[in-house]
Amino acid sequence: MLVLEIEDIKELIQKVAYKDFFSKLISTLEEDYKNWDDFDKSPRVANHVKGGVIELMPISNADMYSFKYVNGHPKNPDQGKFTVMATGQLSLTQTGEPLMFSEMTLLTAFRTAATSAMMAKHMALKDSKVLALIGTGAQSEFQYLAYSFIFDLEEVRFYDTDPKAMIKFEKNMKKFGIKLTPCKNSRDAVNGADLITTCTADKKYQTVLTKDMIKKDVFINALGGDCPGKTEIEKELVESSTVVVEFLPQSKIEGEIQQMPDDFICTEFHEIIKGEKSINVSSHGTVLYDSVGFALEDYSVLRLIYSLAKENNVGKEMNLIPQLDDVKDLFSLL
Ligand SMILES: NC(=O)c1ccc[n+]([C@@H]2O[C@H](COP(=O)([O-])OP(=O)(O)OC[C@H]3O[C@@H](n4cnc5c(N)ncnc54)[C@H](O)[C@@H]3O)[C@@H](O)[C@H]2O)c1
Repeated sequence: MLVLEIEDIKELIQKVAYKDFFSKLISTLEEDYKNWDDFDKSPRVANHVKGGVIELMPISNADMYSFKYVNGHPKNPDQGKFTVMATGQLSLTQTGEPLMFSEMTLLTAFRTAATSAMMAKHMALKDSKVLALIGTGAQSEFQYLAYSFIFDLEEVRFYDTDPKAMIKFEKNMKKFGIKLTPCKNSRDAVNGADLITTCTADKKYQTVLTKDMIKKDVFINALGGDCPGKTEIEKELVESSTVVVEFLPQSKIEGEIQQMPDDFICTEFHEIIKGEKSINVSSHGTVLYDSVGFALEDYSVLRLIYSLAKENNVGKEMNLIPQLDDVKDLFSLL
């Protein structure tokens, strides 16, 4: 079974380069979202614990099965631990044979950013120039990078309640040569923005964005509200936007739309990519992509990274599944 550590993911990204990696990942996501009907889907399994959540995210089609283990503990950084940590597995569906086990903390940041950019590619204004990022923690630079390969961005406006996270973001972003505007609050950050990503972490009903802050039609990608009792967008703004979700049964439990009545109308993204519906900022006004993170996106990044690892001879084959001539003689291993 192939095992990929963090060093292996770093080596692969260096070999492939950011731009090609994001472009391959966005194409893989688009392909899998187009094949939506072929997947066996379910809302993720969540164990809610004090101050956080631990989740398992399984999905399969006729070829492969994947699952991700992921947590969300917003207070973890106070103890020097990540808010979000993840590992994942890819297996063959027909036999159940595990193919690969991988780190997924980095892969989650890549797949989340690539999904944001893919959604924006299909729904935001094509000439979007200004990105607002609210929450400059672990996910933030990845978000910028993915958008930068889709849009001709000129400015990133950003805000975090933690000044140290803003300094870290600015330092990491310097090398990309984009105009960086630190802001004093969310209202200031979204001023003039064409694209807004909220990626804050706090296990409560937050109002990071309110309706009166939005002065023109924008594409909003709300990815920090991803668990019951954890939202970022004021109810009135959700209500007045055209809302697109990944998988409705999961988003109703975890997304911004948990604030809305059960019959609130929203669209699942696969309807858009399959050409059944057309939703975008120029025809519908403000579009809210109410992201919670769906297992299909982990499947896409795992299947892509598996093929890249094989192609580039990266990772270690580890003896995690017994290889025997007589498979009924498991006892012979001892
Ligand atoms: N939807 C998805 O697919 C997906 C994927 C990954 C992470 N997430 C979520 O995205 C969020 C960010 O993840 P991360 O790994 O970057 O976490 P992180 O803890 O590294 O960063 C979060 C940042 O938000 C800031 N913050 C908290 N409240 C704020 C507020 N009101 N205004 C401005 N900033 C605020 C914190 O100071 C922190 O710097 C988390 O809630 C996580 O659960 C969602």
